[in-house]
Order: sequence, then C-alpha cells, then structure tokens
Amino acid sequence: MTIHIGAEKGEIAETVLLPGDPYRAKWAAETFLTDVKLVNQVRGMLGFTGFWKGNRVTIHGSGMGMPSLSIYVNELIRDYGAKTLIRIGSCGAMQTSVAVQDVILAMTASTLSTPSSGIFRELNYAPCADWSLLSAAAKTAAEKGVKTHVGGIYSSDVFYDERPDLNEQMVRHGILGVEMEAAELYILAARHKCRALAVLTVSDHLLTGEALASADRETGFGDMVDIALNAAFP
Ligand code: ADE
Repeated sequence: MTIHIGAEKGEIAETVLLPGDPYRAKWAAETFLTDVKLVNQVRGMLGFTGFWKGNRVTIHGSGMGMPSLSIYVNELIRDYGAKTLIRIGSCGAMQTSVAVQDVILAMTASTLSTPSSGIFRELNYAPCADWSLLSAAAKTAAEKGVKTHVGGIYSSDVFYDERPDLNEQMVRHGILGVEMEAAELYILAARHKCRALAVLTVSDHLLTGEALASADRETGFGDMVDIALNAAFP
C-alpha cells in the first residue's frame, strides 16, 4: 500500500491505462478486461487489474490536473513497478482541422508549469511521447478508421482560462488541443525510464464552441481504450 493507492504489492500490472475519471476506469475495466479485480478505492480513486488478450493490465483513475496525476503516477512507477503508462482522456481542439470526436495522439505536451517545474528551473524541457507507443497507436487508429491527428498538445493548469492571449499563441503555433495532464506524465516517464503516451478524444472545440454530447463521449472513450490497449500490446 502507498499513501494514495490501497493495492497490495503485485496487484498493479506493468501496463497502466490512466483515465482522469475513476468511473471511466470502472467502465473500461468491465468492458475490455477479463478476470477484473478492484485494487484501489482510496479517496474514491478506482483502480482495476485484469487481462486483455492474455496481457495483464491495470486501469486506474488519475484525477484531473497534473498535481493529481503526478501523485498516482509517482506511486504507480516507484512503488508498484509500472513501466508503460497511457493516458486516455479528453481535450479541447485548438485547430480548425481538428473536429469534435477526432482522436489526438500527443507527440509532445507544451506547458507553462508542471509539478516538476521546480527541478527544471530555467530549462524549457520538452515532454514527449514514447515513439514505440505513439507509432503503434497511430497504426491501430488508422486500421480502425478513427480520424486521428498526431502532434503537439498543451497541458494547462486551468480549465477556466482567463488568459485568451496564451491560447491564441498555442493556436498560432499549431498546437492541436488542450488538456491538463499529459506533460507531467511524459516527464515522470522520462525520469523513471518508462514509456508514456496520451491518447485523447476531442470533447470540445475552443474555436467553434462545439461540445460532444454525453452519448458520443462513451463511443469516443471506447475507441481510445482499444487504441491504447493495441498500442501497449501490438
Ligand atoms: N479537457 C477537455 N476539454 C478541455 C479544455 N477545453 N481545456 C482543458 N482541458 C480540457
């Protein structure tokens, strides 16, 4: 057990999928895995371990924002030996070429700050995805016929952003979408020699104001889980 994860040693798989929402973790585990066991429910942050095509997988909520994700990912890697970590979440689109319900594979995650900023100080570290996961995810998404974009995203600390000028610069510099977790995930994976990727469904559009209906969110979420599992076990 750790401070935030109640699982016994050995109950977490080396491959972990990380939705922000603990109930999405439950849905994904019950829908995609067999022999599912609830391994964590501390503070209502649910984690499940089961099997996909004979491969052991944990699906664990990360919570919203980098400080929350950082707690779970630090403990999953350092205390439970997680090696491959894939975020499955939503993002807001920042380009007209990207539509609601499309999938974005985050090659890089720009950010103003993360829980790791203190150690980088003046260095603008460039958090990036693991190539083997990224290329396998792109291949699976293409095979499934899911409209997919591969490129840079922005990991923000705020959902209700009061700085529209910053978003303008992101749009201008080709950032595909905004979410709130990937940059810290990529940094922690790099620090601990792990593999990481963020697979994101576009839930809303910053330029058009469109938003995905909740029924469509579930379909998009299922596609992401499938892409993530196929990327982890190609
Ligand atoms: N996640 C989904 N949509 C988002 C947005 N517009 N901003 C930040 N995170 C998001």
